[in-house]
Amino acid sequence: MSYPDIRPRRLRRTAALRRLVEETRVAPAELILPMFVKEGLTEPRPIASLPGVFQHSRDSLRKAAVSAVQAGVGGIMLFGVPTTRDPSGSAGLDPAGILNVAIADVVSEVGDSTVVMSDLCLDEFTSHGHCGLLAADGTVDNDATLEAYAAMAVAQASAGVHMVGPSGMMDGQVGVVRRALDAAGFQDTAILAYAAKYASAFFGPFRDAVESALEGDRRAYQQDPANLRESLREVELDVAEGADLVMVKPALPYLDVVSAVRDRVDVPVAAYQVSGEYAMVEAAAANGWVDRERVMLETLTSIKRAGAQLTLTYWAAEAAQLLRTRL
Ligand code: PBG
Repeated sequence: MSYPDIRPRRLRRTAALRRLVEETRVAPAELILPMFVKEGLTEPRPIASLPGVFQHSRDSLRKAAVSAVQAGVGGIMLFGVPTTRDPSGSAGLDPAGILNVAIADVVSEVGDSTVVMSDLCLDEFTSHGHCGLLAADGTVDNDATLEAYAAMAVAQASAGVHMVGPSGMMDGQVGVVRRALDAAGFQDTAILAYAAKYASAFFGPFRDAVESALEGDRRAYQQDPANLRESLREVELDVAEGADLVMVKPALPYLDVVSAVRDRVDVPVAAYQVSGEYAMVEAAAANGWVDRERVMLETLTSIKRAGAQLTLTYWAAEAAQLLRTRL
């Protein structure tokens, strides 16, 4: 008998064998495209730290949303960039605010052919850049912020959004949003809870994308990157408060969290491959240091393998297109 008698390489010999035994396959419908719309723009404007991503005008957003749907993405997550900000982030609650009008634009364009989602947070709208209202001592006032989130949820649902994404990491935010939506007759508007969201430096380029005014950081409300069990508690609370789906964010540096969350709850689990994750790969690829497409697909496969059923990624449209040609 020859040695070795067990040869795992047998199943790796040809592309056909490898395809046959592939355990994880990313499908276009699992990918969600985050998109930015800026008030007052007439042309889309590139975001320097996110090559290939744009701040859209209302008009270019509609068109880009249609192309993303044609590429096969499963959903779109909208972020608004207002021209004026104030301490209470009132433009986020205003039905005429940029995010709310953009929701209505996109929904009227794509209807039910995709899932339209919106970021439910005040940081894009506040002059201080924090995710909530500030108390006199400068800290974020949890309970006052909840009231603003409730009104914002109703404004977004009234604009026609299919799913809201509360992302501010305030205690009780999912419950308050659920109750506000139900009371206003929006029982069918779903909640994608940013359940385990870390105070991450990987959000850097996003701050450029929304022209965030934040000085300092969000460590008093987002989670400490050192903690895993805390995420499980956050996720369980959000599910108990009525989250329809839960999200872990960022994705790649937190795959252990994705996996643990997947094991803990039975609602769909999403992961957000955030701006810094995307920017790192784009920067390395622009230097010729990595193969861009292969790294893109490898990251998306890894996030799914860890347990994410859905992935938010700035590559969603491109990756969906690529994956479709491979099916
Ligand atoms: C909050 C929000 C942020 C991101 C998504 N929603 C920023 C933050 O919490 O600081 C980051 C997304 C990314 O980095 O791609 N509105």
